[in-house]
Amino acid sequence: MLQDVLIAPSLLSADFARLGEEVRAVEAAGADWLHLDVMDGNFVPNISFGPGVIAALRPLSRLVFDAHLMVADPDPLLEAFAAAGVNRLSVHAETCRHLDRTLTRIAALGMQPGVVLNPATPESAVAYVLDRVATVLVMTVNPGFGGQSFIPAMPAKIRALRALIADRPIRLQVDGGIDAVTAPAVIAAGASVLVAGSAVFTHPPYATAIAALRPSA
Ligand code: DX5
Ligand code: ZN
Repeated sequence: MLQDVLIAPSLLSADFARLGEEVRAVEAAGADWLHLDVMDGNFVPNISFGPGVIAALRPLSRLVFDAHLMVADPDPLLEAFAAAGVNRLSVHAETCRHLDRTLTRIAALGMQPGVVLNPATPESAVAYVLDRVATVLVMTVNPGFGGQSFIPAMPAKIRALRALIADRPIRLQVDGGIDAVTAPAVIAAGASVLVAGSAVFTHPPYATAIAALRPSA
């Protein structure tokens, strides 16, 4: 199935003192989704923001809110993200004791479920949950920080996942070190949603930065 390529700026690289303005600015600049990186200082060595901040931003934007949970135990938090207005919620396979159950729960709460794989986690980790998910997210850096370098081994995993997904209506997403130089390789491998933090927020004007990531660029 050929899908159009969507761009999801990551708010992690925005100016945290002006989050509302930043959300409005990337929406006006042509972003497709807003990527929201939630970090707990436990699963990853950094802390970002949680459902309270997301709920405060929700009324400012019509963008799809795409939350990426980097937390040691997602289950007790799922309801809070649904209440905050998250549309798509992705959890790391490495953090879920009962991944199938967690994904089912996310769908029952009215969100599109996604599963995320760290760079070292093989594609086989998602083989038996593909009928439960709307998104498979391949980390192309180790999670925790913006501005890291793309890991060159990842396009092979993206290709393998593209084949596993076959014709299911799943978005294959990539996150980490995506810029105008690395985007063509992940798109060629089969990714159809590109998360970009520093390539957008530290490279104004945002409309030009977002356009530079699209395949036509
Ligand atoms: C990393 C986050 C990413 C990060 C990407 O843990 O999941 O979304 O913000 O930042 P860049 O695009 O700067 O690598
Ligand atoms: Zn992310």
